[in-house]
Amino acid sequence: MSAQFPVARPRRLRRAPALRRMVAETRLAPADLVLPMFVKEGIAEPQPVASMPGVFQHTRDSLRKAAHEAAEAGVGGIILFGVPAVKDGAGSAADDPDGIVQRALRDLAADLGDAIVIMSDLCLDEYTDHGHCGLLTAAGEIDNDATLERYASIAVAQAEAGAAVVGPSGMMDGQVAAIRTALDGAGHSDVAILSYSVKYASAYYGPFRDAAECAPQFGDRSTHQQDPANAGESLREVFLDLDEGADMVMVKPAGAYLDIVRRVRDAVDVPVAAYQVSGEYAMIEAAAEKGWIDRERTIMESLMSIRRAGADITLTYWATEAAVLLASS
Ligand code: PBG
Repeated sequence: MSAQFPVARPRRLRRAPALRRMVAETRLAPADLVLPMFVKEGIAEPQPVASMPGVFQHTRDSLRKAAHEAAEAGVGGIILFGVPAVKDGAGSAADDPDGIVQRALRDLAADLGDAIVIMSDLCLDEYTDHGHCGLLTAAGEIDNDATLERYASIAVAQAEAGAAVVGPSGMMDGQVAAIRTALDGAGHSDVAILSYSVKYASAYYGPFRDAAECAPQFGDRSTHQQDPANAGESLREVFLDLDEGADMVMVKPAGAYLDIVRRVRDAVDVPVAAYQVSGEYAMIEAAAEKGWIDRERTIMESLMSIRRAGADITLTYWATEAAVLLASS
């Protein structure tokens, strides 16, 4: 008799692709994705990043082409990182109007206008010869407040070059307030801040430091980035940034910190971004290259998981490819 069999049958809704699609709780869309891109000064050809197959340090021209492809695929935004030809203690190229990022931002703003959201990462580590995210004291420690003045100036230079959103990633205390004040004072009150509010001191950034040529020459980033052991302080970081004027907040890395993405999503009412970082990318690419996992399925599952955890926006090096796959599925 039927009573001896289970009454509830969740499997009924899993029977066929159309049914599964109809009842899916989470959907990915190209517009939610942001592509991080690298532009390097003084190269004639795009340079592949060894630890990130498929990712390049772009020339200004190849950057324009790749950004155009992203926009065509419906990707929501791009975030730009610059690699200058010359680095110094103050990271002078970061706010030079003729610095590589400012030039590239002007190219992209002219080419793409509002077709895609143009964002720029705002930090000093790609520009300093010591590879740290801020100015150093004589003792070799990062001087928080002196660094804020640099960030304020970089924000204005990036806004002037055409960034619609700036993304401070240096984890200095007070950085959002300093940047907001500077932007408003320079007539850029419409430029938004996507704050890397929750940024862990993570081993998953390894390949990025090849791509951006910004590995610290001594020490590490644990005095300013968060300890992977801590969850609660993430909310404190988020609320501080919102008080200081952040328009959107980010959690980084994504995959190993999905619990944090969920906590933040439940605690705030602004858009929440998550950054699927270079190490997450490299691990999947490497395992797929060995034939140990199905590359496309793993990529899409990783992106779905980040969205399911609560991210409204996902930064991913697969943004263009994933957008194309979504359009064809
Ligand atoms: C700092 C910055 C880093 C990343 C983005 N912005 C590196 C760091 O904090 O050491 C890492 C991104 C990635 O790993 O993909 N400017």
